Amino acid sequence: MIFGRVKPLDAILATAEKKSLHRTLGWFQLTLFGIGCVIGTGIFVLTSAGAQKAGPGLMLAFAIAGAVCVIAALCYAEIAAMIPVAGSAYTYSYATMGELVGWTVGWALILEYAVAASAVSVGWSGYFTGTILNEFLGIHLPAWLSGAPLALGGVEGGFINFPAVVIALLITWLLMIGTTESARVNAVLVAIKVTALTAFVALTIPSDAFSTDRFNPFLPAGVFGGFGTGLGAVGAAATIFFAYVGFDAVSTAAEETKDPQRNVPIGLVGSLLFCTVFYILVAAGAIGTIGGQPIMGPNGVPFPAGSEELARQCATYAADQLPLVCSDEALAHVLRQIGWSGVGNALGVAAFLALPSVILILMFGQTRIFFVMSRDGLLPERLSAVHPKWKTPYIVTAITGIAVAFAAAFLPVGKLADIANAGTLYAFMMVAIAVMILRRTEANRPRSFRTPALSIIGPLTIAGCIFLFFNLPIDAMLVLPIWGAIGLVIYYGYSYRASHLGRGLVEVHEDEAVNAIEPEVPGTR
Ligand code: ALA
Repeated sequence: MIFGRVKPLDAILATAEKKSLHRTLGWFQLTLFGIGCVIGTGIFVLTSAGAQKAGPGLMLAFAIAGAVCVIAALCYAEIAAMIPVAGSAYTYSYATMGELVGWTVGWALILEYAVAASAVSVGWSGYFTGTILNEFLGIHLPAWLSGAPLALGGVEGGFINFPAVVIALLITWLLMIGTTESARVNAVLVAIKVTALTAFVALTIPSDAFSTDRFNPFLPAGVFGGFGTGLGAVGAAATIFFAYVGFDAVSTAAEETKDPQRNVPIGLVGSLLFCTVFYILVAAGAIGTIGGQPIMGPNGVPFPAGSEELARQCATYAADQLPLVCSDEALAHVLRQIGWSGVGNALGVAAFLALPSVILILMFGQTRIFFVMSRDGLLPERLSAVHPKWKTPYIVTAITGIAVAFAAAFLPVGKLADIANAGTLYAFMMVAIAVMILRRTEANRPRSFRTPALSIIGPLTIAGCIFLFFNLPIDAMLVLPIWGAIGLVIYYGYSYRASHLGRGLVEVHEDEAVNAIEPEVPGTR
């Protein structure tokens, strides 16, 4: 067996049957859930970093990243409806490519979920500081409390992003005491986000300030900005991919979906298409009104987003003259610049209210993956201990929260997003491979949804993920192998021996514990 220890699919599926959750979700709830997970820091904040990398080509970047996500989602839809259990990509890989590959995927998912939660915390901090503290309360945080150090791509005089730490720890505490978001709260937050973005589009594109001249040159850094630079339209696509991260959370709700054959793909693909269209319109509105050309270095190449040089250049502008590429609260800033300060502030409040739910969903996803890995014996079981009163895996939640807060404290949002993307792209690629393997090894097993034209969509997804990965900035690219090497040391030093599967313990124990503590995915009920 080339993959070594492979978790038997029957054991996993027997679990799913045992769980027998009520199938109550329809396509509309799933789509709402998807949009709730997806719209966040990517569009509200990273629009600036994307414009610094690609200029107006940011619109193309949104289309490229959206296309890769849509085909990846089609693969997710098949496997999620077929193996609807906790652990998502980790479990799918474990069941198809064995424990070692499964471990690497679980390990990479830490980047997707925990680091993404850090990125959204930093994004939230930008709106909290700019709109709530500065605009409403007239409070100006000292520089050392309001951002990461300059040397790490933060702000002049920065040391720690204190608001980001506070929000990350607050969400950790909420998760520890068992808070989960209801479908109603999710629906309200989705409505707030969509209203804010709709208002943005409605006030920018038809505005007098809008000029098509601002789209010239359309690709100031070219399509390819050069290997390792993260620049150009595809470099921006690799970063802005973050704006779509989280749609895979829809797959975790597959088992609770009515008629999954129809509803899971609609929920996954529908929420992505909806976001893609919105994102392109928002980018057009922002660039067409205040311009989105990058700040160029002396050699005619844009300064890298998140670099010290760029931060220094941005520090030379007065607050009301700040170019799009320098703003920490890009969309509110655009509206203020074109004379809609009140609506800009309202949009800032919308981000302030809605982004914490994205952090909550991402951190919840992380704790659940840790939980499943520790239940499989690959991480110490002590980690998944359930609190007697709160009924939550409080240890793993606390560890996750501290790590999320630490990364949010000292790294800027763009770097965090790029690192999260590296892990996510690896996991998406593995899901596409798993779907293709299962079509061969489990050809006759019933599937409630089949990826259309898998022989094309599967390889395209793999190619798309590899392509975006190699267009990330070099430091984000390097994080994946370094993180993977650390993971391998832990695997061979601990997990290999401790694995339940390795020790012959493959009963159908799955998910009872998960259900006892976390009966539902936040935002779905
Ligand atoms: N897609 C999510 C966001 O942009 C993670 O915040």
